[in-house]
Amino acid sequence: MDNRIEVMICLGSSCFARGNKTTLQAITKFIDEHDLKDKINFHGGHCFGYCADGPNLKINGKLYTGIDEYNVIDILTNEFL
Ligand code: FES
Repeated sequence: MDNRIEVMICLGSSCFARGNKTTLQAITKFIDEHDLKDKINFHGGHCFGYCADGPNLKINGKLYTGIDEYNVIDILTNEFL
């Protein structure tokens, strides 16, 4: 069983076009730099249905809205470091 914490970035067209393309790279880099591959199951998801609040991210089902490549580092730091 996969006990890692699920981090899912919205790759729906709205979130993707408004920044998640870049945020995805920032998250991948963060996971690499902090050696968190064993702790985090990071993957993309389809539209979460909250496009107006996006770009969006979910950590273990908890929704984070208005993320960008900078504030996502704070979110990940709070959650995982
Ligand atoms: S595209 Fe991300 S919530 Fe709809």
